[in-house]
This record gives sequence, C-alpha cells and structure tokens, in this order.
Amino acid sequence: MAKPVIWIPRHLSDATLERARRDYDVILKQEDTPGTAQEIIEMSAQADGMIPCHSEHFTADVAGRLDPRLKIIANHSVGTDHCDLNALKARGITVTNTPDVLNDATAELAVMLMLNAARRAVEGDRIVRTGAWDSWSPAFMVGKQVTGARLGIVGMGGVGRALARKARGFDMAVHYHNRHRLPTEAEMGAIYHKTLDDLLEVSDFLSLNCPATPETTGMMTSERLARMPRGSILVNAARGALVDEDALLDAIEAGHLAGAGLDCFVTEPGGNPAFAKHENIVMMPHAGSATRKTRDAMGFRALDNLDAFFDGHAPKDAL
Ligand code: DGY
Repeated sequence: MAKPVIWIPRHLSDATLERARRDYDVILKQEDTPGTAQEIIEMSAQADGMIPCHSEHFTADVAGRLDPRLKIIANHSVGTDHCDLNALKARGITVTNTPDVLNDATAELAVMLMLNAARRAVEGDRIVRTGAWDSWSPAFMVGKQVTGARLGIVGMGGVGRALARKARGFDMAVHYHNRHRLPTEAEMGAIYHKTLDDLLEVSDFLSLNCPATPETTGMMTSERLARMPRGSILVNAARGALVDEDALLDAIEAGHLAGAGLDCFVTEPGGNPAFAKHENIVMMPHAGSATRKTRDAMGFRALDNLDAFFDGHAPKDAL
C-alpha cells in the first residue's frame, strides 16, 4: 500500500526526518524558511498530512483555501496560536500539538533568563569581553538574589510546573495564577492566587508560562507591570503577544523593573530593537525548546500523532 504523503516545511532533527522517511513519503521544503500561505495551500493538494512549526500560519483565510486532500496538521510545537483551530475544524482537519516533551527545556531557559537578568550577565559579559574590567569594588556588579526570592508563575501547565520544580532548587517561594487551582498534590507547595493582579504584587520574579489566547494577549499592560514590586524582574518564555512591549520598555526605563528576560517578542523573527540598548534585558531568539533531546522528542511526538491518525485511531494530542 502506498505510504501517506507528508509535507515538512522546516528542517526538523535528523532522527525525526529519518523516522518520517521510513514511514511516509516525505516532501521536505528545500530551504529552512517559514512556509508561506501560498506554499501551505499548494502543498495541501499534494500531501495527506503536514508537520509544521509555529512559523507556519494557518489563518482562517488559509484554512478556507486548503485542498480537501490534507487531513491532518501534526504541529511540531505545543503552542497553537499560529493556527485558527475553529476554521481548521470546520474544514474537518485534525490538528495536534506536542505537549509535555518540551516542559523541561523551556523551564530551563526561563531559569537561565531569570538568573542572567538578576545577576546582570549581559553587562558582565560585555565588561570582561571588551577589556573594560579594570577594578573591583563591593559595589561592583551588584544584582538581585534569586535564592529565597518569590517567584510568580502565570500558567501552571506543564512548563509552569517544571519551572516550579526547578525553583525549589533555589529555595524560592513559588506563587501562581492559573485559570483553575491545581489539586494540592500537584501544587508542590506553591501558593495559588485567584487573580493575576494579586500574584503580581508578590512576585520578585514573574514568569509567563501561559498560551497566547484572545484573553491573555496584551495582558501585561503598564498597570499590571506597575503592580509588580519595584526592582522585580519579568521573564517571558511563552509568547511575545502576552506583553505590551512599549509598557515594558517604560517600566525598564523608569527603573521600576530591574530587568527582563525575554525569549519571545511581538515581532518574530527580529525582536524589538528598542530593547537592545538595555543590558538589563536579556534576550534569546525563541529558543525555549531548542535542545537536541527536546527537538527529537517533539519530532517523535508529532510523528506519533500522524501514525495514530493514519492507523485509524484518535491521535493522543488531537486538539
Ligand atoms: C512551542 O512549541 O510552542 C514553542 O514555542 C516552539 O515552537
């Protein structure tokens, strides 16, 4: 029997591509660049399934123009804000994501951003690297201590909980806000705050770990940033859309926030050039899940979902 045809627009890990080629007839896009709307629409007439990333946008317009041949979009991402799920569902297309497998890598990056912003790593690196390190003083490079501080986590899904576990290693007092309170055994001693505003007030560090939805988009407004304690630090390894970037810049320039650690931006790729002049803003180019182990696991999870679908079962991560 002929193998199903799948389109892979980005250069996934070698192990993922090897397994995909074993089980499917793979069309791999030559250049490792985001699949355009036009490419997505054209490929939908040649493929039964796709493994896109968050760089391929399945808007309502694209969904409406997909060829009926395409049956499944097995995303290589946990976030699905690049997909209009209702429009895809209306076309009868199964959509899956890759939850859980990137929790540790993403939480690890959030810890890195928190530590780097708190201990002024960008500035320190620049001072040593440029030969500007010419003295030492007890007042030199003094930062904010992470150990024992209060960490507020917005969104206690898989990444939020992985971050809470890692924060215990720093004896942090973990507080959280989530749509629903977790069962006590899943809280790991973290303190629940029913409202985001209450959480902000007790967060020396605030980490955003929730998806971008119509409800959360733009949620970190200037009023909300002002609620965070003076000298606190914002970390975002979730989605840029959660933060009003102008308001964040104002809070940094006014000295209300001591720093920020950002892995994602409203505009990607590219980021926000206005942040670049502030060494207390540590930036990464959307690399939360970028470890070899996790990229293999994401690819395999997407393939598991395709396998189940083409075997006639409901994929584990069907949305
Ligand atoms: C995700 O999986 O959503 C990450 O942001 C990488 O795409």
